Amino acid sequence: MKIIAVANQKGGIGKTTTSLALAAGLKRKKKKVLLIDLDPQANATDIYRAEIEGVGTAYDLLVDGDTDCIQNMDAGDIIAGDPNLKDASKLLDGVSAAYKLKKGLASIAPNYDFIIIDTPPALSVLLTNALTAADTVIIPLTSDRFGLHGLVQLNDTIKDIKEFTNPGLTVAGLLLVKYRASTTLAKAVDESLPEYAALLGTKIFDTKIRESIDARKAQAAQAGLYSFAPYCTTARDYDSFIDELLKEEN
Ligand SMILES: Nc1ncnc2c1ncn2[C@@H]1O[C@H](COP(=O)(O)OP(=O)(O)OP(=O)(O)O)[C@@H](O)[C@H]1O
Ligand SMILES: [Mg+2]
Repeated sequence: MKIIAVANQKGGIGKTTTSLALAAGLKRKKKKVLLIDLDPQANATDIYRAEIEGVGTAYDLLVDGDTDCIQNMDAGDIIAGDPNLKDASKLLDGVSAAYKLKKGLASIAPNYDFIIIDTPPALSVLLTNALTAADTVIIPLTSDRFGLHGLVQLNDTIKDIKEFTNPGLTVAGLLLVKYRASTTLAKAVDESLPEYAALLGTKIFDTKIRESIDARKAQAAQAGLYSFAPYCTTARDYDSFIDELLKEEN
């Protein structure tokens, strides 16, 4: 069993797309997968067409320790996100605040091969919960200067997590997403990436996830990439990425 957080404090960088593709791709490989939507925006929950009202959500798991919160959808098992999560920082305080997710997952995790956690785009008690519960973190990033700035912040967060709440946390790697290899900017960023990977004590995944119109359209159509356009470049790239990830597991 492995818990993977998908994190980057920068917004709109491809965290949810990557979380969804990981969950769907691993499920296609017959792995037992649970997706946790820890973002109050609940974008992944929307794609899974899961409920938020009248059911247990990630909010109930974190705030009340309610483990009856898994929804079995066609797309897979999910713990839904919840707009109320934005108040979690007010409700979770004290020394145990960062450990709520880890504690909640103790009885759930043995039922799965992989748990994927989609995180919100800011440093908050939600991100610290995700990184405290996770075995490893995948960092999606785009080939632009601002994407790199987010990495310095994330590195500070990860350093704190390793020091204080989760010494065993590893950084699986940097995953270039929405990639357009031919641009000058992408080339400049590609050149500076190894420096950032070294800062985070990690590597850059060989697979790069190319940009495609289908990936954008899938989210607009409230569909997962594999059901919307299973053969588009982005879906195929995520498949290769999962192969790369699983190869390292063995
Ligand atoms: N490979 C890709 N090709 C084209 N569009 C993409 C690709 N990956 C993501 N996108 C689009 O980029 C936008 C942002 O992606 P996504 O929602 O995954 O980012 P995010 O990091 O989860 O955002 P937030 O920080 O708001 O949670 C979406 O419109 C999505 O469809
Ligand atoms: Mg998101």
